[in-house]
Amino acid sequence: MERPDAREMLYEGKAKQVFATDDPERVIVRYKDDATAFNAQKRGTVAGKGEVNNAITALLYPELEDYGVPTHFLARLSEREQLVRRVRIVPVEVIVRNRAAGTFASRYGVEEGLALDPTVIEFCLKSDALGDPPMNAATAVALGHASEDELEMLFDLAAGINDYLLARFGVAGLELVDFKLEFGVTGDGELVLADEISPDTCRLWDAETGEKLDKDRFRRDLGGVEEAYHEVRRRLEATVGQPLDLPEPDDEHDHHHDHEQRALHLDLEGEEPHDA
Ligand code: TMP
Ligand code: ASP
Repeated sequence: MERPDAREMLYEGKAKQVFATDDPERVIVRYKDDATAFNAQKRGTVAGKGEVNNAITALLYPELEDYGVPTHFLARLSEREQLVRRVRIVPVEVIVRNRAAGTFASRYGVEEGLALDPTVIEFCLKSDALGDPPMNAATAVALGHASEDELEMLFDLAAGINDYLLARFGVAGLELVDFKLEFGVTGDGELVLADEISPDTCRLWDAETGEKLDKDRFRRDLGGVEEAYHEVRRRLEATVGQPLDLPEPDDEHDHHHDHEQRALHLDLEGEEPHDA
């Protein structure tokens, strides 16, 4: 792909900047080394984090596309930049939890590491000012943040993404504890996975030792933050193309919210999956 030029900055977030290109449907995302936690009350930098998170997202999103998940990702342009489809971000963060940790463990008074069956999928309002408060489906619809159909699609997409990522990180010797997803709507109305998937947005524990290899090292001042991010990248790159232990596709496409893990190849209300 010809490298598009970055034009004016459209948006700057805590960890990324977004630039216009000459194509109104495409923007460039630039990954920064800045790190924040606890709603930006804690700030710092992690040297090389932008490069690592760009590389990990650029590795995982095309794999997810192949699995049937539509994403905003188009191409990695440089160490820190990627080209993505321009979307309107849905202000609903989707958190998937395979094990208790973080705010879930403290909210319910359970040990970190407790296995959760069924997998827990939570919605939060994307609002730094309000601290991303948890929100049930009725609240999201009543406040106009998403439609019921959109929430159902977010739920099904998140469950399918979890199936894939559990297997994908698993083959890299990493336990996927929990993670956060953001979705967007493209100019032609397609709901796609947006944002990033990285040690900033996932909890990843070494499958053998339980060592934390994610942003909790920064949040909790555990040291070795850069090394952990590099280790996740190294393990993912070392396991590209290895066979994955994925669940069987469920061809009944049942939509009741039983939180059962489904393989993807999505039947999104009858729409064709997006071709990569
Ligand atoms: P939590 O335990 O703090 O609620 O976080 C759950 C998961 O979501 C964890 O993997 C970190 C990720 N996360 C983000 O990526 N961004 C956020 O703003 C928050 C609150 C969590
Ligand atoms: N990224 C979020 C913040 O800055 C929360 C977190 O990841 O802990 O506040």
